Amino acid sequence: MVSLVAVAVFLLCGTLFQSPQVAAFKPLFQGGSLTHREITQLAILRKTAEVCRDIATAQGRNFTLPINNSLTPSAVQEACSASAASSSAASSHVFYLVITQIFLSNAVIDQLFALSEAHHVDNEAFSEGRHLITQGVAAVKASVLQGSYFSARNTLGALCHTLQDFYSHSNWVELGSTAPFGTLIKPELPLNNLAGPSTPTCRSCTGSDCRDNILPEILLRKKLTSGYFSVYSSRKPAGKCSHGGFLDRTSLREPTGGINKDDIRSDHGFLHLRAADMAINATVEVLQDIRLATGDQAFLQLVGLSQTSVLAIVIDTTGSMSDEIEGAKRVSFSIIDSRRGTPGEPSEYILVPFNDPDFGPLTRTTNADIFKERINSLSADGGGDEPEMCLSGLLLALAGAPPSSDIFVFTDAAATDLELKSTVLAMIESTRSTVTFMLTNVLLRRRRTASQSQQFKLRSDIQLYRDLAHASGGQAITVTKATLSQATAVITDASTSALVTVLQVVRSPIIPENVSFVLDPSLSNVTVYITGDSPVFTLYSPTGVSQSDSVADGPLGSILTVGNLNRVKLNSDSQTGEWKISIDSTHSYSLKVIGQSSVNFLINFVEQLEGGDFTPKANRPFIGRNATLFVSVTGGDSVSVTDVLLVEASGSDVVHGTIKSLGATDFLVNIDRIPEWAFVVQLKGLLNNSTRSSPSRFQRQSPTQQRGSGVNIMAQPNNTIEPGIPFNLNFTLVTNATGGSYTIRAWTDRSFSVSFPRSLDTGTEGSAQGSVTLTARSDTESGTDVTLTIEAEDSESSDSNYVALRFTVMTKVAVRKAAEKQEY
Ligand SMILES: *[C@@H]1O[C@H](CO)[C@@H](O)[C@H](O)[C@H]1NC(C)=O
Ligand SMILES: *[C@@H]1O[C@H](CO)[C@@H](O)[C@H](O)[C@H]1NC(C)=O
Ligand SMILES: *[C@@H]1O[C@H](CO)[C@@H](O)[C@H](O)[C@H]1NC(C)=O
Ligand SMILES: *[C@@H]1O[C@H](CO)[C@@H](O)[C@H](O)[C@H]1NC(C)=O
Ligand SMILES: *[C@@H]1O[C@H](CO)[C@@H](O)[C@H](O)[C@H]1NC(C)=O
Ligand SMILES: *[C@@H]1O[C@H](CO)[C@@H](O)[C@H](O)[C@H]1NC(C)=O
Ligand SMILES: *[C@@H]1O[C@H](CO)[C@@H](O)[C@H](O)[C@H]1NC(C)=O
Ligand SMILES: *[C@@H]1O[C@H](CO)[C@@H](O)[C@H](O)[C@H]1NC(C)=O
Ligand SMILES: *[C@@H]1O[C@H](CO)[C@@H](O)[C@H](O)[C@H]1NC(C)=O
Ligand SMILES: *[C@@H]1O[C@H](CO)[C@@H](O)[C@H](O)[C@H]1NC(C)=O
Ligand SMILES: *[C@@H]1O[C@H](CO)[C@@H](O)[C@H](O)[C@H]1NC(C)=O
Repeated sequence: MVSLVAVAVFLLCGTLFQSPQVAAFKPLFQGGSLTHREITQLAILRKTAEVCRDIATAQGRNFTLPINNSLTPSAVQEACSASAASSSAASSHVFYLVITQIFLSNAVIDQLFALSEAHHVDNEAFSEGRHLITQGVAAVKASVLQGSYFSARNTLGALCHTLQDFYSHSNWVELGSTAPFGTLIKPELPLNNLAGPSTPTCRSCTGSDCRDNILPEILLRKKLTSGYFSVYSSRKPAGKCSHGGFLDRTSLREPTGGINKDDIRSDHGFLHLRAADMAINATVEVLQDIRLATGDQAFLQLVGLSQTSVLAIVIDTTGSMSDEIEGAKRVSFSIIDSRRGTPGEPSEYILVPFNDPDFGPLTRTTNADIFKERINSLSADGGGDEPEMCLSGLLLALAGAPPSSDIFVFTDAAATDLELKSTVLAMIESTRSTVTFMLTNVLLRRRRTASQSQQFKLRSDIQLYRDLAHASGGQAITVTKATLSQATAVITDASTSALVTVLQVVRSPIIPENVSFVLDPSLSNVTVYITGDSPVFTLYSPTGVSQSDSVADGPLGSILTVGNLNRVKLNSDSQTGEWKISIDSTHSYSLKVIGQSSVNFLINFVEQLEGGDFTPKANRPFIGRNATLFVSVTGGDSVSVTDVLLVEASGSDVVHGTIKSLGATDFLVNIDRIPEWAFVVQLKGLLNNSTRSSPSRFQRQSPTQQRGSGVNIMAQPNNTIEPGIPFNLNFTLVTNATGGSYTIRAWTDRSFSVSFPRSLDTGTEGSAQGSVTLTARSDTESGTDVTLTIEAEDSESSDSNYVALRFTVMTKVAVRKAAEKQEY
């Protein structure tokens, strides 16, 4: 077994590169110095590898990390699978996704709480900082025990920021400490030996003279202090150390100079690597603490190592739905029974029934038998022919399912809760889940007998489902009740692990079109879907072999046609290279090409803060302005990226990004101008394969459509809220030009009371403040998570933006008292 420490040392000795100082370890990107991202990722990888090793050892198996390899998510995932500590079908994609989520919620602290002394342990705010850390750790444990992994990861990222900043902003390292400060994660221990509020701690210094600016008696008596920091005022208590750096006004006042170790050029930059190393070790300790409280399997689930595929079903249970319920049962049972105990077994199951006027509850379980029992107990009754609470049910599933899940909605009626459409779109964008609608009979049957206005209504009903499906990268499949069971093949296709999207386009055709896509050697089980009313198509392989839609079993694959769905399963020997499909259709259609591969990618918009840092931008970027994408290519250490494009979702306009590499698998991509149209992100590149002489081209696409907006909405969330106590959340609207009137909506996935202003006017300044009050029911269990979305919609243009926030409901832990400052 290779030593895990060696890798940390390898990273620590990276090239020395310099950039301006800011107020913390750089959140995402800082060549040479260690960032919150690297510190967090390394700690997660080390602890995860250790957990896998311990599980393997306990079961008498060997655990081997690849020798002479950096500690990457793929390497750790492979080693864990090879030792059977985690599911062998788990792709490293989810592991990357989770690590990214954790470090982005770490980085966002610099943006949301830039000036909070507690979040950065500035201004000797040790007690407040520790309160954030210990309350965070308690919330993470409670969330994990409730299965609320999404919230747990957000809280974990946030608390790690404060924990890591302690080592950069305090004099812990200067005191000669040889281990992390364990008291920071133990609320019951007293915070001893803090320098008192009137105890001087530093002398004035400039430049390299600042290496030893901490007063000798502070060092001698091992008093803990941290630097004062302010961008507004130079005021600080007499004799106190400053943080230092050009943003810090306090460092201009006596005693001048600073003590931070944020990067190698900081006043105490000579201790940066030591502080960063200590921060890694401290993060490892917190992870161990969480692991001990939750158990090894839950820990692996927390870091995303045991998620394979998710089977998620949202189903109408009104009177006419018995055939569909039977169909959903059949396909679920078949997936469960045929995959049980195999690597292809889904790792989680989601079920949400809806009716009229009821919907829910959400069942979320890792136990296939519980899921079977719940779906078995569904029966069709009530509701009649009326439209149903479809979007409400779907929202519960979107909020409850792990990110990037495939969700299937069964219904035979129009949705009655149309006002939720924009909220569904916001949740689709923020969760990146894919929604496919299985629409049966009634929608179709009504068509024949319907009057013109009813037909118009019907078309708009179906169009709603189509819009939502396409925005998510899914499909709106219309079939008869009798043929539904054939169409459920798409559910079987989707509930496999390591599924990637090669291409997805939506078209309202005027002329026939040829669409091409590249298949690479890492792909298997490639499936092409053409969904639309009677399209005529022919598929061409790279060598020119063709097969038309009328040939069910041909040289290229087998074609299933049912309802408006055409599914082409390519033969397993399908060639790699550029394929083409020529399509002629009088109606709109969607084309989707998926397959299984370890090579995939993740994208997140990030924002550049003053000083060069990047923090995540969780909602729609401004139309017409530049933007930056953080791209991680997963599962391929031998992948090179040549192109990152924004492609018009229902057209062919393209915006090219400029790629800047951040190391082996991560990239920053600058987009000059966010377009007005909805777009998908496409990635192209080359794939090395030792068994081949030359690299192969590959392409991937993000299934989720994204869009820009002329308005931004920002909120500064608390990670936890208390049951029964109204929680006030302020938010800010900013428009790209002058103001306008915005309709405000707020929604939660729990039946908690929410109040908010119905509209806001951004006036001539182009900005406005608002406030949402959320009250968790007083009987809510600790660890329950709640999703809150706030939307702002321009009343005239229907342009909108949103924030999607997650909170953990927690009763107040009695940590405050223990956390009181204790002074000599
Ligand atoms: C573990 O590794 C040792 C040495 O490489 C080998 O002899 C042994 O068979 C391995 N055990 C298992 C269970 O693979
Ligand atoms: C990996 O091995 C190569 C030689 O095989 C060596 O040059 C290189 O320094 C090693 N890298 C690390 C990180 O140990
Ligand atoms: C961090 O932990 C590793 C392994 O436990 C140890 O070798 C290293 O010295 C520690 N670093 C610091 C700065 O304490
Ligand atoms: C599509 O490709 C086919 C076969 O190569 C060709 O015959 C046809 O003209 C092309 N159609 C269009 C619209 O480019
Ligand atoms: C490399 O090529 C072989 C043969 O084509 C294929 O089986 C394997 O999956 C490829 N591996 C990768 C990582 O692309
Ligand atoms: C995927 O393809 C592999 C061979 O390439 C095959 O063994 C496996 O059964 C296929 N899986 C599915 C779900 O079709
Ligand atoms: C993005 O636009 C801002 C002004 O809106 C400008 O200051 C900045 O330099 C631009 N960034 C890039 C990478 O073009
Ligand atoms: C792929 O292989 C080529 C040589 O065949 C090499 O030049 C290139 O650096 C490799 N790329 C990656 C990403 O491994
Ligand atoms: C502002 O946003 C709107 C979309 O709401 C967009 O059409 C317009 O181009 C943007 N204006 C500027 C100046 O960026
Ligand atoms: C978050 O909660 C703490 C109490 O736990 C409170 O002091 C603080 O003001 C809250 N922050 C916001 C932004 O609501
Ligand atoms: C929210 O806004 C109100 C009024 O605008 C203000 O009094 C209050 O302090 C703000 N709360 C937080 C937590 O910022």
